[in-house]
Amino acid sequence: MNSLDQIKETVSFIKGKLNVNKPVGIILGTGLGDLANEVNEPRVLSYSSIPNFPQSTVDGHDGKLIHGFIDGVEVLAMKGRFHFYEGYTMEQVAFPIRVMHFLNVKNLILSNASGGMNPAYKVGEIMILNDHINLMPTNPLIGPNMDALGPRFPDMSEAYDKTYVKLLVACGDEIGEKLHQGVYAAVSGPCFETPAEYRYIRRIGADVVGMSTVPENIAAKHLGMRVAALSVITDLGIEGNVETVSHEEVQAAARAAEPKLAGIVKKFLKKIDA
Ligand code: HPA
Repeated sequence: MNSLDQIKETVSFIKGKLNVNKPVGIILGTGLGDLANEVNEPRVLSYSSIPNFPQSTVDGHDGKLIHGFIDGVEVLAMKGRFHFYEGYTMEQVAFPIRVMHFLNVKNLILSNASGGMNPAYKVGEIMILNDHINLMPTNPLIGPNMDALGPRFPDMSEAYDKTYVKLLVACGDEIGEKLHQGVYAAVSGPCFETPAEYRYIRRIGADVVGMSTVPENIAAKHLGMRVAALSVITDLGIEGNVETVSHEEVQAAARAAEPKLAGIVKKFLKKIDA
């Protein structure tokens, strides 16, 4: 079966289980899964029950597709995502985004945990992504183009919707939280960066670094989706002051910031639904 047929098979399975109309897609990153608890009238499919769906292998990534409503706005949320470092192909990483497209998702919200390199950033703060740099060794669009999904050479001049960036700033203001805006560099991981790598990534123009989001963004832009993305700064790789970091610390910092992130996403959903 080619991958378009697989996507369609998965879509018809999900359509048979969930009453999907026009949901906003959400991907919940490391330690940020609690937003899923705010979904009303939830219908939950575990990834293991969904044909062709990859399974997540990392602690803190739960593996559930959740459909329902947050403050009356229809959402389809992935609790647990697929990372390139887990050994998935880029096609597998992009697969759920492509499935979402055929489930009528036009707007996608991505969240992640990242290491801050901008000296103005502190652990626990949130950055709105306004651009990215792909430092992963590959790209989900490599291979024959699936014309049914999008063009061979998609434009990336507005990877993160500018209107949505402004709306997110306003959402931050409403909950009394000043959000940073900046550039996310995606690396393969799974090891964290050396001081020289943090320095290098900062110098080429990134504010934070992480191991996700960019392949999903590329797949979404290929499909013509509008994307908004938020990053919780969970550790710092600031020149002259690179701290040690562990996955447990990243998870704990993300969890601590989760209520803020949830507050912002809830306000944002209301604004884009208006
Ligand atoms: N580097 C890469 N990925 C990350 C980091 C980091 O410092 N923190 C959370 N994800």
